[in-house]
This record gives sequence, C-alpha cells and structure tokens, in this order.
Amino acid sequence: MTVTISQSFASDGPRLHPWPVRIMHWINAVAMIVMIGSGWGIYNDSVIFGSLYFPQPVRLGSWAAESLLWHFAGMWVLALNGLAYLVYGFVTGRFRERLLPIRIADVIRTVRETLRFQISHDDLTVYNAVQKILYLVVMVAGVMQVITGLAVWKPVQFSWLVDLFGTFQGARLAHFLGMAVIVCFLLVHVTLALLVPRTLWAMLSGGPRLAPPRLRNPHAGEPR
Ligand code: HEM
Repeated sequence: MTVTISQSFASDGPRLHPWPVRIMHWINAVAMIVMIGSGWGIYNDSVIFGSLYFPQPVRLGSWAAESLLWHFAGMWVLALNGLAYLVYGFVTGRFRERLLPIRIADVIRTVRETLRFQISHDDLTVYNAVQKILYLVVMVAGVMQVITGLAVWKPVQFSWLVDLFGTFQGARLAHFLGMAVIVCFLLVHVTLALLVPRTLWAMLSGGPRLAPPRLRNPHAGEPR
C-alpha cells in the first residue's frame, strides 16, 4: 500500500489524540455500550420485530425496569460527553483537519484496498476516506439517538419531535435503527482497531506528536 506522509512529526507539537479526545472517546465508548446493552433489555419488554429478542447474557439489567435505570444513567453521560466532544471538535478545528476533505476517488481506492485485505494503516496521523465517513456516520447516528430517544422518552412534551417521525412507533423504529447503525460501526471499528493495534495504543497514550500548528493546518486550539 502506498502511503503519503502528509504531516511532519515534532517533539513539542500536540499529540495525535490529545488527552481531552482520549478521555471523551473512552467515556463515550463505555456510555454507548451501556446504552446498547440496556436498550436491548428495554426492547425485550415490547418487541418491534416479532421474533427478535435479545438473550440475557447481552442485556444490561435483569429485567426491563432495571435496564431502564441503566439507560437513563448512561443517557446523561452520553449526551453531555458527546456534546463536549462535538464542541471540542468544532472549536479546535479537529473535525476539519481529521475528517475533511472526503474525496470520492479516495473512497473508491480505500474500498478496493480493503476488499484486497490491504488495510495497513502506516501513517496514523491520516484517516483514510472510509474511516472519515464511518466517524461522521457514527456522530450523526449518536445525535439522532439523543433526538429519537427524547421523542420516545417524553412523547407528550416533545410531541413535535415525535411528529418528525410520523408516530410514536416511527420514533421507536428510528431509535432502533440508529442503534443498529452504531452496533455495525462498533463491530467494524473494534475489528480494525484490533487488526492494527498501534491505533489502539495511540488512542490510549496519545500517539505521536505532530508538528506545531504554524507548520501545518491548524489543530490550533488543541492541547499538547
Ligand atoms: C460506540 C462506541 C465508539 C464510538 C462512537 C467511537 C468513535 C470513534 C471516533 C469518532 C473516533 C475518531 C476520534 C477522533 O479522531 O477525534 C475513534 C477513534 C478510535 N477508536 Fe473509537 N469509538 C467507539 C468505541 C471504541 C472501542 C470499543 C475501541 C476499542 C477497541 C475504539 C478504538 C478506537 C481507536 C483505536 C481509534 C483511533 C483510530 C485511528 O487512529 O485510526 N473505539 N472512535
């Protein structure tokens, strides 16, 4: 695989994943897993798809009411931490630098390489086009989960949100489909992280230091 090293390294620049990103990422990962496991417990009480039930070992909470308590606890963590991550990403310019631009040609090339199992990730500082799309998709899915979750939680107070999805059942279905998107993301994301363990270590330790902002595109406000 041909790799272009587009960022120079330096001893005094910010890390690839500064500490706020790492802390928020791991809090987010735990919160998402709590939300998924407890959501499956709540779903079982009133299924949407006739024969689809989630077995006890993958559910959080031994019965629906207990799952609901977990879901409400996780909800605040996910919403507040997720909001902090989005604000941080926009304000520091991280999203612009890490996730844009996305070029069709790059997407096609990355998909081709992945289908040939050429998924090396030699330059950790550059996300490939498919990674960028996946991260954007999961962020949109996370925001949608909060919106559809509010609609399902307080359908009277947020009746205008319910209206966006037609009916209460429509909002429930959208909430379920958002979960499915996040679970699919998680399966691919964790598999790739395990296949390229250097990325996992970088998300724990911060990864390489990048050249100072003045020598490259701004990561401007990011801490070191
Ligand atoms: C549903 C929960 C998760 C979500 C929504 C999520 C989302 C993300 C996002 C948006 C990024 C890009 C971060 C940035 O650069 O600002 C990222 C990076 C990363 N995540 Fe997750 N993540 C989740 C769970 C996990 C888990 C469980 C693992 C561990 C196996 C993991 C490992 C990583 C690694 C290693 C990176 C860096 C990838 C790279 O440098 O190529 N994530 N994740």
